[in-house]
Amino acid sequence: MKYFLDSAKMDEIKEAYETFGIDGVTTNPKHIMLSGKPFMTAIKDMADWANEQGFKDYNDFPISVEVNPHLDDADEMIKMAREISALSKCFVIKIPCTEAGCTAARKLEKEGIRTNLTLVFSPAQALFAGKYGCKFVSPFIGWKEQNGEDCKQYIQDIVDIYANFGFIGETEIICAAIRSPKQFVDCAVAGADCVTAGLQVYKDAMHHAFTDQGMKTFQDAWDNTAGN
Ligand code: E4P
Repeated sequence: MKYFLDSAKMDEIKEAYETFGIDGVTTNPKHIMLSGKPFMTAIKDMADWANEQGFKDYNDFPISVEVNPHLDDADEMIKMAREISALSKCFVIKIPCTEAGCTAARKLEKEGIRTNLTLVFSPAQALFAGKYGCKFVSPFIGWKEQNGEDCKQYIQDIVDIYANFGFIGETEIICAAIRSPKQFVDCAVAGADCVTAGLQVYKDAMHHAFTDQGMKTFQDAWDNTAGN
């Protein structure tokens, strides 16, 4: 399963790459705002860093960048997608799962600009990404579970549908807005291709209180071993 960092902050991206070996980055307008930088500066900084790392394109290290969320016309989304995509071969264009968005995603994929269909909340919506050959589909998990919905079956249904129609490997499933280690496990058990989460969730997933307790036990044993 691929691990993506959901952030547009360069310090977080560098730490997550160094510590957790993340496979890519996803952003959205909220993350760009939280970076404190103007949109173009934030995405150019990510493009420069990816270039410095020697990543050639989205196969090496995909960075999802979302179009202006105010756009509600497919042609306008396509125009902005082309502008973003010209800045880095690592960029994948995040397009919302609306009628205009799906039209734009279908056309962009036909011209070779890779897309990530986002704001997906149902298996029916996820099917469109597979049909149109989007590079990624982003079903949101955290938002639904915060709303009291258990997402295990939701993730499983998307994985099964993708297997039924040969979309596996063509359109990668990014379980998005992951908020807890338990959600990581649910996605892994269902066979989702990728997860995207904030830095703290990766830290939480690597941590267990028994590991700390075990370290203390072994340190005490080491200190009390004859000759140490
Ligand atoms: C996914 O690609 C989105 O950027 C993200 O997961 C949205 O949720 P959040 O910003 O609330 O985590």
